[in-house]
Amino acid sequence: MNKSVLMIIGGGIAAYKSLELIRLLKARSIGVRAIMTKAAEEFVTPLSVASLSGEKVHSALFNLTDEVEMGHIELSRSADLVVVVPATADLMAKMAAGLANDLASTTLLATDKKVLIAPAMNVRMWLHAATQRNIATLENDGIQFVGPNEGDMACGEFGAGRMAEPVEILAAIEKLLSPTIQLLKGKKILVTAGPTREPIDPVRYISNHSSGKQGYAIAEAARNMGADVTLVSGPVSLAPPTGMTFLNVQTADEMLNACEGVYDVVICAAAVADWKVAEVSSNKIKKNKISGVPSLSFIENPDILATLSKAGKSRAKLVVGFAAETEDVVLNGKAKLARKGCDLIIANDVSETSGVFGGDKNIVHLVSAKGVEDWPRLSKIEVAQRLMAYVAGQLK
Ligand code: CTP
Repeated sequence: MNKSVLMIIGGGIAAYKSLELIRLLKARSIGVRAIMTKAAEEFVTPLSVASLSGEKVHSALFNLTDEVEMGHIELSRSADLVVVVPATADLMAKMAAGLANDLASTTLLATDKKVLIAPAMNVRMWLHAATQRNIATLENDGIQFVGPNEGDMACGEFGAGRMAEPVEILAAIEKLLSPTIQLLKGKKILVTAGPTREPIDPVRYISNHSSGKQGYAIAEAARNMGADVTLVSGPVSLAPPTGMTFLNVQTADEMLNACEGVYDVVICAAAVADWKVAEVSSNKIKKNKISGVPSLSFIENPDILATLSKAGKSRAKLVVGFAAETEDVVLNGKAKLARKGCDLIIANDVSETSGVFGGDKNIVHLVSAKGVEDWPRLSKIEVAQRLMAYVAGQLK
């Protein structure tokens, strides 16, 4: 995404989460410039913020060098979005009153961009009549909020005031930055992602190297375009995305069950295990109880993509599959399109040299009845955004 945010880091214990947020934003190619309040510097160092953002950190209002390089008015307008992380009770009060006595508050008053705030404070401070008044004023001024959540607080209390997690703030930022937000509004989209895990006994299983990154990126891109997304995921190490229905499964059978329902679009990005062990041992297979090595026999798993492609009346308008290939990528993609009965195959090279499995880049070919479209090497996030724009076009 060719966008940038101006991040104002307030002085609260939750300020440490701003570092993770910067990392997440950079991973999505969203530029970050940061302003830190004096209090924020007590919680995170400007050096950490500068190292992660790759940009100089601004803090003082009256700094001649800064004003020569980039005046504070320019700074307030240089980004596509201003994000306040964490928005402390003090910063919110300043914003509501229109105070401008440091760089953060001056910037917030001078900006002509949308402002998103992630409040974080003690539950009593959050519930205080003064803060509640300020919240109402800020909402009235068009300030966007993400969180706060309810939960355990650093001060040992429990309640509302805990800052939203970095992934939630990221989702809110992407939603505000996305110009294509309405393209898939009202469309129900099912995405499968990640590997499946087929048990051998209670402690062992068969699986594959799928990271789930491409499927998750697709689900997030669809969500950002306004779709009503259901993500069915096998076991991966990614955080469940927010703003969608998330169903966690282990086996191919569980994945198929979770895919029940009526959808406008189905995208099968999961690397489903083709076979499962015919007889799963209910006890751990012990070396001293078998002679030699165990032998496993397999039976075929349900083909989720083929099943959903042939779902008769309840079939989605558009069914998309992936073809993860190590050779003859396009040829195999064409064969898979015919065999599975889907409308579109995204064929990609997952050979060891391609670096696709587990990596952040992907080179894909769109194979449909209309022909083959070759896409350049893109990040998985860019592939996801392009694919969802393509899907929106097909649904028209
Ligand atoms: N797929 C599925 N259920 C399965 C196997 C595959 O839904 N049991 C889907 C995948 O999500 C993907 C597509 O089918 O969208 C192709 O998966 P792939 O593993 O490349 O193909 P296979 O069916 O395993 O065929 P082959 O063994 O020839 O590679």
